[in-house]
Parts: sequence; C-alpha cells; structure tokens
Amino acid sequence: MWPRMRRWIVRPATRPLRGAFRVPGDKSISHRAWILASLAEGTSVLRGVSPGEDVARTRAVMAALGVTITDLDARTARVEGVGLGGLRAPAGGALDCGNAGTSMRLLAGVLAAQGFDSTLVGDASLSRRPMGRITRPLRARGANVEGVIDPVRRDETAPLTIRGLTGGRRLFASDESLVVASAQVKSCLLLSGLFADGGTSVREPTLSRDHTERMLLAMGAPLRTMGPVSQLDPQGWSGALAPLDLDVPGDPSAAAFWVVAAHVVEGSRVQVRGVGVNPTRTGFLEALRDQGGGAGVAPKGEAGGEPVGDLHVGVAGTGTLRRAAHVAGELTTRCIDEIPALVAAAAVSPGESRFEDLAELRVKESDRVAALAALLAAFGIAHRVTGDGLTVVGGKPRGGAVIDSRGDHRIAMAAAVLALAAEGETTVDDVACVDTSDPDFAAILRGLGGDIEVIG
Ligand code: S3P
Repeated sequence: MWPRMRRWIVRPATRPLRGAFRVPGDKSISHRAWILASLAEGTSVLRGVSPGEDVARTRAVMAALGVTITDLDARTARVEGVGLGGLRAPAGGALDCGNAGTSMRLLAGVLAAQGFDSTLVGDASLSRRPMGRITRPLRARGANVEGVIDPVRRDETAPLTIRGLTGGRRLFASDESLVVASAQVKSCLLLSGLFADGGTSVREPTLSRDHTERMLLAMGAPLRTMGPVSQLDPQGWSGALAPLDLDVPGDPSAAAFWVVAAHVVEGSRVQVRGVGVNPTRTGFLEALRDQGGGAGVAPKGEAGGEPVGDLHVGVAGTGTLRRAAHVAGELTTRCIDEIPALVAAAAVSPGESRFEDLAELRVKESDRVAALAALLAAFGIAHRVTGDGLTVVGGKPRGGAVIDSRGDHRIAMAAAVLALAAEGETTVDDVACVDTSDPDFAAILRGLGGDIEVIG
C-alpha cells in the first residue's frame, strides 16, 4: 500500500485569532550554529535550535564528521567543538541534506576545504536546485567539487562530489561579486575561507541575511563587513573560533505566517514572542506596514549578536490591510522567504498588489511563482504572472479549494493562512513538508482558535 499523504482541512475562521506564543528557533541561525559550534575550540551550548527536519540534517552531518553533540534537555544541546582542523572523514556513505538547500550549500563550503572525500546528496526537490553558484567559486579557489550537469536547467545540481585536498594543500584566496544576493552562496564562501591560505571577499548587489557574519564576529573570526561587502582575512589569525552560548531567536519566517493570519482574520490580536528582528529578515513587516498594517515590535535585547523582539498584531492600528502591496528590488531580498505569506495577504487586500524581482523564487523548494499562481487560481483570486513578477488582485477566496503544496512547506502554510478567509473549507495536500521548518504549525493555528484538521 502507498503511504497516505498527509493533508490539512482548514475551515474559515469564525472568530478573531487570539494568543501569545513562540515560534521555533530560526532555521538559518540554527544551521549556522551547528556548523560553527562544531568548528569552535571548546564546548558550545545551543538553546532553542529549530526542531525542523532541515536543521536536523545539518546536525546529523556534523555528527557524521566526528562532532559529539549531546542533548541536555528538550531544547538544549552541547556541542564539543573540534576546531578547524578536527573534522573526520564520514564513516558511512553520502551525507544527506534532505530538502535543505542551506545545509547543502553551507556544508559544501566546509567540506571543500577538508583533506578527505565526501558526497552531499538531497531529496528530489533539492537535487533540482542550482548548485553552480557555489561549485564555480569553490573551484576557482582550488577546491575539487563537482555536481551533475543538468542540461535542462543548464546548471550543476546535486549530488555534489567533493575530493579532499591532498598533501596538506589549502584553498586559495577568493574575491567574488555575486550577481544575485544570496546568503547561502556568501556563507559557503566565508565558511570555506576559514580554511583558506588567503583572504575571502564577497560582494552582493544588496545585503542578504547576515547571520553568518554576525556569528563569525561573535566567535572572534577576522571578519570585516561594510554593508553588502564582507572580507575575511585569516592572515595572522590563530584559527581559533570561540565557542557559542546561544539562545536561538524565534524564526521570523515562521512568525510571518501568524502576522499575516492576524491580518487576514479581522479583529485578531496575536503576539509572537522572542522573534529575531534582524533587518535583513524583517522586510515582510515593512511590506505590510506599507499596506497600512504590520506589527508593533517590542525590543527584547540581543542573542548572539542578533536583535530579538516581540511582535504584536492587532494593537495601535496594526492588523488591517488598507492598500495593495508593492514589493520589489532590495525589499524582495529582505522578504524572499515571506513572499508566499505576503501573497496570501495580498489576496485579501484592496487593489492590485505587485511583487517584482522574483527570479530567485523559481529555484526555491518549488518554483514558488508557479506554485503561488496555482494557489491563487484554486482560491479564485485573479492574478497575472509577468516574467519574474506576480500581480494579485485582492478579493474573496472561494471555498472548496484544493491546494497541492508541491512538497513546499511555505506554499502549504500560505494556503492554510489564506483558507482562514475563504468562503468554505479548503484542502491542502502533501503537508508533511511543513515539518522541515515548523512542525508546530497546525498546533499553533489551533491554539489561536483556528479550525485545522490533520489527516494521515
Ligand atoms: C537562506 C538563504 C536564502 C533563503 C533560504 C535560507 C540561508 O536562500 O531563501 O531559505 O539560511 O542562508 P538564498 O541564499 O538562496 O537566497
């Protein structure tokens, strides 16, 4: 018998959403914490790491490379850092990154600098995603990394085969100007740069999320940053990264769905506590504010060089979308993962919302431009796809929609949020993928007063 696909039945909200809660630890920061704590000299303590499957892949790879990681309690782990020279060849076969692009691209940077061979593999979706953006600059600095040529996409894809550097050879200096802002590419190069003989310089067209830079600085790495330029110069550096004692902030990308849900259901009052509010991640709050909504942010200090705050929706005029959205250029980069949530908001906003510069969205866990267009069509919301842009004409989502997540967690969650405002019940198919980032999603929605049934 085929395993039954997990699905959600979501019913329209009959009352405002109410609640104060936390979301899982930030996925991006969590990946980096497992990797950098493993490379530190000494013992790190990590609290509130993302419980999602993506981050678990990175943890498992570091363990396979000989790093001892111990759970102290349900939300605390101890990592015995092995230092930059301490990773060991993996005992088993290929290292499996599952659905996680961040795992594959960041780990490739570390593994390309080692003296042993390794192979990185991923699931069907990850195996379609472009890897030339990391293999080319890694090869340019002397690494022996190869993907599989995909003639349709004209790019290299996973599996990535990495040959160890022989005879004590080290990677060369690297100076890259990225065509597309990408934190994964930038981080891959900076991580490989920790092991290089020369410096690493990465220039982005606009600054993408800067968690790697902040964590490296907190650990004492010889890094300088000037806006979208970062330079790592290991000359004269001892090579010792200080261990971390880190409380991972809540994931703003998970919080975005609740902030949007509170706008979609009139009269809602929602508080998401302890969320990372690094400005490279909060573009979605600016986009919603431009629409007359948004969230109040109550600052709650810092964690590991990252600002943290509580998000309040439904107070002081927030919570209502009065205008259409316009998201383009630099703002698109700062809410790249929140576009699905913002499109759900646009579907019930007045007027024509425009989302531009979405080329990167086509190479995420799914082609999100196509997936969002299909989602809007299923809800009967008028829209147009024009090149790398999407225009959404706000309206009332019809009932009875059946949405295929296409195995993409953020498409599933966007569908569930929009379903709260629909005229009838919505079915969201293939939702097991939500476990990659937010295994608590359905429970949180129920806690807020939403009606979501999990089948299978
Ligand atoms: C991430 C970077 C972004 C983002 C992804 C997580 C990271 O990808 O979309 O979900 O943790 O570095 P790109 O670097 O491909 O833009």
